[in-house]
Amino acid sequence: MSKRTFYTFAVLVFVLAVVIPWLAFRGSGDANTGAQEVPASLKKGQALFETNCGTCHTLYAAGTDGNYGPNLDELLAPNGPPEEGAGEKQIEATVLNAEKNGVDSNIPGRMPPGILNPEQQKEVAEFVAAVAGKG
Ligand code: HEC
Repeated sequence: MSKRTFYTFAVLVFVLAVVIPWLAFRGSGDANTGAQEVPASLKKGQALFETNCGTCHTLYAAGTDGNYGPNLDELLAPNGPPEEGAGEKQIEATVLNAEKNGVDSNIPGRMPPGILNPEQQKEVAEFVAAVAGKG
């Protein structure tokens, strides 16, 4: 290999291995998931949401874009439906109820109940209530 070819190759490798990933990942809160940075107390709920809910639900703060179930930013936004003027506590209760009991879970393909254990359900409900509609 001539020196010139070697340098051309080295530059190419540098661009592919360093510059392009750097361009792709810089600026997003979390390079791996595109999830929003949240307070430490919400991180567990966020991670659980990404894994267990994100395949079906879009939620900006979790960086998920599932579109099988409703977009939770839209559905649960404070002051939006389902309850006018719903505060965080009310959103949390709605999410907990959906997690525990499912939604129309007697209809095949709807939201199944009990995906998470009760402690995890609470973590996720707190996370969703804190972030829904605020992206
Ligand atoms: C298999 C896909 C699926 C998964 C996984 C899933 N959901 Fe759902 N979810 C749905 C569907 C479908 C609906 C809408 C059901 C309907 O309207 O009949 C729904 C509805 C909801 C609602 C709205 C409840 C209401 O009262 O309107 C909330 C909140 C919710 N899901 C939260 C979650 C959370 C939190 C998780 C993770 C623990 C999760 N979902 C996991 C499919 C899913």
